[in-house]
Amino acid sequence: MKKQQEKKIKKINEAWDDIFNERMSRHYDELKWLYYELYNSDKQAFDYFCGMLYKYYSERRASLKELDRKRLKNPDWYKGNDMLGMLMYVDCFAETLKGVEEHLDYLKEVGINYLHLMPILKSPVGRSDGGYAVSDFKNVEPKLGDIKELKSLADKCHSEGISLCLDFVMNHTSEDHEWAVRARQGEKEYQDRYFFFDGWGIPYEFEKTVPQVFPQTAPGNFTWCPDAQKVVMTTFYPYQWDLNYGNSTVFNDMTENMLYLCNCGVDIIRLDAVPYIWKELYTNCRNRPQVHTLVRIMRIATELVAPGTLLLGEVVMEPKEVVPYFGTVDKPECHMLYNVTTMASTWHTVATHDVRLLKNQLEKVFSLPKEYIFLNYLRCHDDIGWGLDYPFLSQFGVEEVAHKHFLNEYFQGRIYGSESRGELYNDDPRLGDARLCGTTASLCGIEAAEYEKNEGKLDQGIRMDIMLHAFLLTLSGPPVLYSGDEIGALNDYTYHEDGLKCTDSRYLHRGKLKWDEVAKRKDSKSREGRIFKALLKLEKLRVNHKVFDSPADTWIVETYNNQVLGIGRYLNGEKLIALFNFDGLNQTAWIEENEDYTDIVTGKPCSSKHVVVPPYGFVWMVHKF
Ligand code: GLC
Repeated sequence: MKKQQEKKIKKINEAWDDIFNERMSRHYDELKWLYYELYNSDKQAFDYFCGMLYKYYSERRASLKELDRKRLKNPDWYKGNDMLGMLMYVDCFAETLKGVEEHLDYLKEVGINYLHLMPILKSPVGRSDGGYAVSDFKNVEPKLGDIKELKSLADKCHSEGISLCLDFVMNHTSEDHEWAVRARQGEKEYQDRYFFFDGWGIPYEFEKTVPQVFPQTAPGNFTWCPDAQKVVMTTFYPYQWDLNYGNSTVFNDMTENMLYLCNCGVDIIRLDAVPYIWKELYTNCRNRPQVHTLVRIMRIATELVAPGTLLLGEVVMEPKEVVPYFGTVDKPECHMLYNVTTMASTWHTVATHDVRLLKNQLEKVFSLPKEYIFLNYLRCHDDIGWGLDYPFLSQFGVEEVAHKHFLNEYFQGRIYGSESRGELYNDDPRLGDARLCGTTASLCGIEAAEYEKNEGKLDQGIRMDIMLHAFLLTLSGPPVLYSGDEIGALNDYTYHEDGLKCTDSRYLHRGKLKWDEVAKRKDSKSREGRIFKALLKLEKLRVNHKVFDSPADTWIVETYNNQVLGIGRYLNGEKLIALFNFDGLNQTAWIEENEDYTDIVTGKPCSSKHVVVPPYGFVWMVHKF
């Protein structure tokens, strides 16, 4: 049997065509070296892996190979100032994949050319973690559509110049996945794809060093599996079983699942929870060196099979853990990573009106090589975790636990002067930790203002919302809007009444898009219209000014005012000074720029000395040399 399989693999590998051969010859030595290092020089597993890569290469359809060719010619295709992303749940936006396809014109109107659909693969109702518990990696959740419709959507997106991003949930499978079912029935081979233990001895040892992801909604990292009469590792929810990447079969099959998505026409693969994929006793089971080896191999796999594809790493960790996921210039890992600390620091700045932490964070980001592309965002489907630079804050007497408490109180509207309407997520009283949920608009006070019918407050909330988006668009790298934010969508409280959702407060900002609100985008007096129009204008300015392109030099402009953030950008004779007032009063940026500037929002010449920025206002001023 083994011999027969070996012969089959050899036959496939001999038939590689020229393009694949050429790509393989560039990567073969490194690929083999990395694979052998992880999997004890398992030749058979490696040969199978290479044969599988070739199979996916040869099955890739001509239109996608053509896209690969174009992107290889222009490898910076995703780095430009014309990129604008949107993240959405298919059912919240348009019920089904077909619905999304029918609404592409709306996305085009918003200016979107990067579309991230939240998990759409098969996942059991009520035990899905929003689709992050996949029970079948090759089938779409039936209520959303099917694979044919996914391929059709990808093709349509491509013809409209939109790239499609999908999650690849690789740390775990659903307990309903075929492997898990067979493991539950006692098949050892399938139990070996997960982490099974006969008793609680080893799990307890793990618990000594492994933190908890969901301390309130899913405490602990292990679950008793009555069918198998064993304990199984479940870092996230009990129905999400951690995969054992120490087993080469798991890695081979999961890479195949990833390439399957690439061949459906997915352009950007979001590597969900990637820091977690290698487990080792007496470590925190995060960011282990082996994770980087696996990601590097996956990068090579995409370069061999589908080189137009990007890897987006979901690394929600402190900055020193995030940056290594870019790999090195010679041996890159992810193409893009989330600018997570900047996002959290931005919301800290909203609450404190003090820009010093954000300034310090941006200085760090600005000093990184320009090849490192960050994806910027204000809100996404997840909560905001307060992963801030506490050692930096401690110089001002700010202490971690007390500060998290303050931020959470602030964003729940419980601090004098706060109009925010957020809810806590996974409150962990032991550590004094909790995270925060809510839409951008509700966190900016728009919900409270509308409820109170207070025009002044509404005006202030909308200004803040637009200022935050202007800040987002000032950073290098693709900005990604959260669906609904383009019209200032408010929190959705209906999840409280849904038995399947009520324990997960992230559903607060996962509401259905209200198309009657979308219709108001044309009314420039409405909240929807004011935000929509302003965002469109900012996007256009961003596209029309090359200074927003990612190769630009970026620096912090000293404003001598802790309420006003100043950012400078320079590229090819164009210089931008951007100022953001995080305070509710007029604030002066004590800058002394010597050139003549035009305020590109108003189109009028403007002063570049001692600039007064209105409450929650911003200025984009450009000088052309
Ligand atoms: C990622 C997702 C999150 C999910 C988790 C488990 O962090 O963003 O929503 O709960 O992975 O898959």
